[in-house]
Amino acid sequence: MHRCVLPVHGGKVFFMAIVSPSLLSADFAHLQADCRRVLEAGAEFLHFDVMDGHFVPNISFGAPVLKSISRAVCAFYDVHLMLTDPLQYVDSFAKAGASLISFHMESNSPVGETIDAIHAAGCKAGLVLKPATPAQEVFQWLNQVELVLVMSVEPGFSGQSFLPSALSKLREIRKQADQVNPGLLLEVDGGVGRATAPACCEAGANVLVAGSAVFGAQDPAAEVAFLRGL
Ligand code: DX5
Ligand code: ZN
Repeated sequence: MHRCVLPVHGGKVFFMAIVSPSLLSADFAHLQADCRRVLEAGAEFLHFDVMDGHFVPNISFGAPVLKSISRAVCAFYDVHLMLTDPLQYVDSFAKAGASLISFHMESNSPVGETIDAIHAAGCKAGLVLKPATPAQEVFQWLNQVELVLVMSVEPGFSGQSFLPSALSKLREIRKQADQVNPGLLLEVDGGVGRATAPACCEAGANVLVAGSAVFGAQDPAAEVAFLRGL
């Protein structure tokens, strides 16, 4: 899916986005129920944040948790590796049920080799940029990956405020992708919710990660529905 813009009467423009609720903000004691709830509300992906306590100052969950939840709940698992050496873990996350594996440009793993390993393991591949990393870093790889993820907070924690500098980065990447890979999925992650998502879609994002905005809401299903059809 490329950016899908639906102009309607009255001049209002609607965007259709894929919503990828971040399980980091789910209730781990009821993970299966939380996953089902957002999928029934129309979430197309489930975002699985893996943190090693080294690349980021936090530890989350790993392949054994993904294996259990992916067996219990059939979904597209969008796995975001915040690891110093992602290449080392590609196979274990692929075997655990990852559908897409994204890794950071700032990690220690060689980019081309890691993309190849992800594809060889049968998954889609994504590249992630921290807020301080320029858009140009991913340009040479755009035709080799299915997704680029722009971080709109410093990775490591949910519940942070959206950094508006992500918007220009989304625009730059979408403009470049239009030349070389128009089907590229462009994902934004961090502080995304009702207030910030419309600008992200306008800037070219078509996959919205939302953690606290979805699982912290009174009605997570309503948040997913809102974000899907902006
Ligand atoms: C942060 C993670 C995000 C996080 C988003 O390092 O990559 O996916 O869970 O949480 P919110 O949507 O609450 O900012
Ligand atoms: Zn994430």
